[in-house]
Amino acid sequence: MNKIKVNLDKKISASYEICIGQNIIDRIEMIIAKNNCASRYVIVTDSNVSTPHGEKFLTTLKAMDIDVDMIELPDGEASKNIDTVLNIAKKLIKMGVDRKSALIALGGGVVGDMVGFVASIYMRGIPYYQIPTTLLAQVDSSIGGKTAIDLPEGKNLLGTFYQPKGVFIDLSFLNTLPSREFKNGMAEIIKYGIIDDTDLFSLLESEVKAISDRDMALLLTIIEKSCRIKKRIIEIDEKETGLRRILNFGHTIGHAIEAQSDYSISHGDAISIGMVASAKISEKLKYLPSKDRQRIESLIRAFGLPHRIPMSLSTEGILSRLKADKKKEDNIIKFVLLKKLGMPFINGGVPEEIIQETIVELKDR
Ligand SMILES: NC(=O)c1ccc[n+]([C@@H]2O[C@H](COP(=O)([O-])OP(=O)(O)OC[C@H]3O[C@@H](n4cnc5c(N)ncnc54)[C@H](O)[C@@H]3O)[C@@H](O)[C@H]2O)c1
Repeated sequence: MNKIKVNLDKKISASYEICIGQNIIDRIEMIIAKNNCASRYVIVTDSNVSTPHGEKFLTTLKAMDIDVDMIELPDGEASKNIDTVLNIAKKLIKMGVDRKSALIALGGGVVGDMVGFVASIYMRGIPYYQIPTTLLAQVDSSIGGKTAIDLPEGKNLLGTFYQPKGVFIDLSFLNTLPSREFKNGMAEIIKYGIIDDTDLFSLLESEVKAISDRDMALLLTIIEKSCRIKKRIIEIDEKETGLRRILNFGHTIGHAIEAQSDYSISHGDAISIGMVASAKISEKLKYLPSKDRQRIESLIRAFGLPHRIPMSLSTEGILSRLKADKKKEDNIIKFVLLKKLGMPFINGGVPEEIIQETIVELKDR
């Protein structure tokens, strides 16, 4: 089992460890028991994770004489709302969960974001652990302490920054993960290669087949590299006031596409198209060499991720969503662009004509 220490400003948040390995669930249980960070625990999971993983985890913790319960939520983004939060909080109260208790988020980004949110506000804050079970959650959402729920007006509009006590990444959870969800996570790993690590990018280029076949040794390497990149960025900018924004590479247009499709396009697919669009804008503005843009597009395609915008999505619709995006400041649409592979920067504002031209060029004909 490998360990990565996340060192945060102690005045704001406590530091914690990310433990990564394959078949480490027994070790995770031991660490939770030994850490003794709470007198009782509540695992929160979803309906797809509960049967293959949650119940076993619950039984083993109980066998270790740990006082533990489990709450199961319906799966999917539709659950990530205030009603579910109230539902969890009421169940916790009924169970007698107090400030000496801790929550364990066992699931993908939806469970992780929601449990983090509940932990941050329940009785003014109780500890929680992240045990991510999707590839996306293992490389992205479980690290960094961003918690959120959605409102009918938009995604992630209510949230807090609240760091977990620890993150445990067991690759064996990926054995049951559907391929659509695996690809969603790959899009984020490709993003790390693009914004930070050309070695990771080259490794992805040369190992497309083995990674797609879920070669565990390679997955361990790329997941660990991704976690190290994210941890380095959040150590510098925990609250996303500067550097952390580079993690949004591909997300500005990606979010607009996702929303314009009424969320029928998955997050990973949408940000893949968004990354191609951002690379194209970087090339048009004469920052990014054409060969780098081509490599980005080829890698995204090689992993079976989309690189074109469906014709059915209106250009005007995408543009107006971009303008309404919460990251828009002073009527300027800011983008994370690239000077070259591994060298992102926040652009002061891309002219609307360039964005429009790029969307039209990327339409799937
Ligand atoms: N907090 C952050 O920094 C951050 C970063 C990125 C994304 N997010 C959020 O993460 C969410 C997306 O996360 P996600 O992609 O993990 O989605 P998800 O949590 O909805 O999981 C995807 C699907 O996979 C199922 N699943 C999970 N683990 C499984 C397993 N091991 N085997 C079989 N099925 C499994 C789930 O039940 C669900 O149906 C979004 O809400 C997004 O806003 C947060």
